Amino acid sequence: MAAHAGGWGGVSENGTPLVDVDELKVWFPIRSGLVLDRHVGDVKAVDGVSLQIQRGETLGLVGESGCGKSTVGRALLRLYKPTGGTITFDGQDITHLGEGELRPLRKRMQMIFQDPYASLNPRHSVGRMVGEPLRVHRMGGNVNKQVRELLTIVGLPADAATRYPHEFSGGQRQRIGLARALALNPDFVVCDEPVSALDVSIQAQIVNLLELLQKEFDLTYLFIAHDLAVVRHISDRIAVMYLGQIMELSPADDLYDNPLHPYTISLLSAIPIPDPQVERKRTSILLQGDLPSPANPPRACRFHTRCPYVQPTRCREQEPELRPVDTHLVKCHFAEEIKAGTLQPQRREVVFEAPAAAPEAVS
Ligand SMILES: Nc1ncnc2c1ncn2[C@@H]1O[C@H](COP(=O)(O)OP(=O)(O)OP(=O)(O)O)[C@@H](O)[C@H]1O
Ligand code: SF4
Ligand SMILES: [Mg+2]
Repeated sequence: MAAHAGGWGGVSENGTPLVDVDELKVWFPIRSGLVLDRHVGDVKAVDGVSLQIQRGETLGLVGESGCGKSTVGRALLRLYKPTGGTITFDGQDITHLGEGELRPLRKRMQMIFQDPYASLNPRHSVGRMVGEPLRVHRMGGNVNKQVRELLTIVGLPADAATRYPHEFSGGQRQRIGLARALALNPDFVVCDEPVSALDVSIQAQIVNLLELLQKEFDLTYLFIAHDLAVVRHISDRIAVMYLGQIMELSPADDLYDNPLHPYTISLLSAIPIPDPQVERKRTSILLQGDLPSPANPPRACRFHTRCPYVQPTRCREQEPELRPVDTHLVKCHFAEEIKAGTLQPQRREVVFEAPAAAPEAVS
């Protein structure tokens, strides 16, 4: 973990962030009609996200399925064209760059995926796949030697180069994906649920490897995850997303020890605690209802339709700002009252006393 990334802004001693996102919007048009192909609305997958990622930092990004995490990651790498807002990478505004102008930057930004098998071509040898980015970007040097070095760095035998993806386990395939992502010596890596499909024991190995590589190669990560436990371990700061927006952003430990946004509180209350005595006494705050459609998000506070702390008028009429409270940025009108305990959740259920209703987990 980066020692320099503290506070809600994560401002490092050396100033400018590597990635700076301001009011990012990524909307996908909804079209209807066989003949006229009318534009009838938009899926507002990302709808006004601002964040910075410092050099050497890991920013965790969590939230329910469909809340826009992958779309943020892809937009930062300019795999999607933003609908609005700006993306600055290493001081350069890349929001509207064309493919030709992006090409030199592509080397510096990489992505690893949840399902390494799907991102690897089953008909190509591991050596060919790991060496491909070196050849495409004409990096020069002895490609075979570099591939062997990369495979060793990620903990695979050098003879892996002559073998094929199906000959490897899930964890090993993720190592192949990592070797491929590292080939061009990137600065920034979007890790989109890189361990979600792996066994728990293997997850720890890959997370440890990611941390080692970060130190060794001075990498900056956006780490997208469902599992709040995994994201705590690797992240310096964590952003919690709901329906295309950030609800809370804070240093990792502060988010777990002292969550301020009702959505974060609900997500954390759904995670089992290993100590059975603590677990028995704990209460779980269940989120009511389904995630609303990102094509038609609730007005004002978009969490108000499910919020256990919702208040009569303000929550439904005025959109909260993402504003600093202690070390957190939090998008809730009542963060101070929730912190002080003067506002209590309205629907509370005891964990294990009503096991039939499974809590809504971060999917
Ligand atoms: N290319 C696309 N075209 C249209 N809609 C899209 C596209 N990509 C994503 N969406 C929609 O945008 C919303 C956000 O999707 P996204 O994949 O970013 O969510 P996510 O948080 O990564 O979810 P998950 O945890 O399931 O991976 C969803 O409603 C999704 O259906
Ligand atoms: S503003 Fe209101 S509805 Fe929104 S999170 Fe805060 S208490 Fe809940
Ligand atoms: Mg996703």
